[in-house]
Amino acid sequence: MANATMKPLQVGLLGIGTVGLGTWTVLRRNEEEITRRAGRPIRITWIADMAQARAREVTRGAEINLTADAKAVLAHPDIDIVVELIGGIEPARSFILQAITNGKHVVTANKALLARHGNEIFAAAHAKGVMVAFEGAVAGGIPIIKALREGLTANRIEWIAGIINGTSNFILSEMRAKGASFDAVLEEAQARGYAEADPTFDIQGIDAAHKLTIMSAIAFGVPMQFDKAYTEGIAQLTQADIRYAEELGYRIKLLGITRRTASGIELRVHPTLIPAKRLIANVEGVMNAVLVKGDAVGPTMYYGAGAGAEPTASAVIADLVDVTRMHTADPEHRVPHLAFQPDQLSDLAVLPIGEVATSYYLRMRVLDRPGVLADITRILADRDISIDAMSQKEPPEGEDQTDIIMLTHRTIEKFVVDAIAKIEALSTVRDKVVRIRLEELN
Ligand code: HSE
Repeated sequence: MANATMKPLQVGLLGIGTVGLGTWTVLRRNEEEITRRAGRPIRITWIADMAQARAREVTRGAEINLTADAKAVLAHPDIDIVVELIGGIEPARSFILQAITNGKHVVTANKALLARHGNEIFAAAHAKGVMVAFEGAVAGGIPIIKALREGLTANRIEWIAGIINGTSNFILSEMRAKGASFDAVLEEAQARGYAEADPTFDIQGIDAAHKLTIMSAIAFGVPMQFDKAYTEGIAQLTQADIRYAEELGYRIKLLGITRRTASGIELRVHPTLIPAKRLIANVEGVMNAVLVKGDAVGPTMYYGAGAGAEPTASAVIADLVDVTRMHTADPEHRVPHLAFQPDQLSDLAVLPIGEVATSYYLRMRVLDRPGVLADITRILADRDISIDAMSQKEPPEGEDQTDIIMLTHRTIEKFVVDAIAKIEALSTVRDKVVRIRLEELN
């Protein structure tokens, strides 16, 4: 095989934890096929990891240079590509910036870092003429960056809606299927190793917001704006709402939604009712799915493992192959980092959550008396909020309180917030109104 005899592209791996080890394993296992695709061998020749004993153990028998000093790898003249799989902000950010300064291409799966400091990193890479590839940062093994940046390049992308956090999807799936409580399922997710080191990132929607920020930037040609993303997690969801949603033909998922509107970009992560018959509503457990609506292609959906050693390694190695194929090309012939040419980014603002248009599920605990419903519907009508469906439960035997559930048509969030404040002030309304956003995704 002629290409296998070419000088290998040399990779310095920073971090041989879960994804690092997956990358090491898959790159070696599929070496021959990867070489046939890339045009020359890709070889990890240096690994930097603080846990030296473990690094030695997992690479035993291989010809490899191990060090605890990442800077030695960043500065090594033989290294062509630095793969950053440490995660977190520092020292990952400084290492990547140093690699770029040293003229190395970078592959990273670090979603938090790109969402928060991507603008700085891409500007540095552009100035230096090196590539920063990040397929593994969003939805693990699903090639969604490739799809958005290249496959859908003809389209004006209208919106993206994704289940992009496996831990929270696992929790919601188990709560619905087994009637289990939030706390019990979270414990199981942690025991199975799905959750981030800090699980609040998963359950508060922060991890999903990191991934959504990256997809939004590529879809609409805007800078990364994580600080403007709205995030609401799943910890408040109850069995009652999961059941009521089901009775009305909906499932509750933690969705990341980004949409282009005439007045700005929506960038939001929150629990969302979606029709149970939609394909994406049936994505269960730790799996991820991303639905993308393009004006020409219509809706397309991407499904697969959103985390894990080998699925994420699959994305990291795809980036390594891309970089290998393109590293001798002129920078202007490469795919731009954020899909649009760097001088063509738009400054379309991210809309505050109060200006977002969506539908709502409202659950109200009320006294079962004449006129209660009339008072509530009057408050909604006064704010132009139109009711799409309604259900009232029989009060349990001997009780005088019951639940009213309403689904609204699309409206502006600030009007709903105002209506809820007025409804909660009624003496016949006995508890906080539960409000969950609803998207038909059609
Ligand atoms: N904690 C993440 C998840 C891992 O649950 O999806 C992948 O980013």
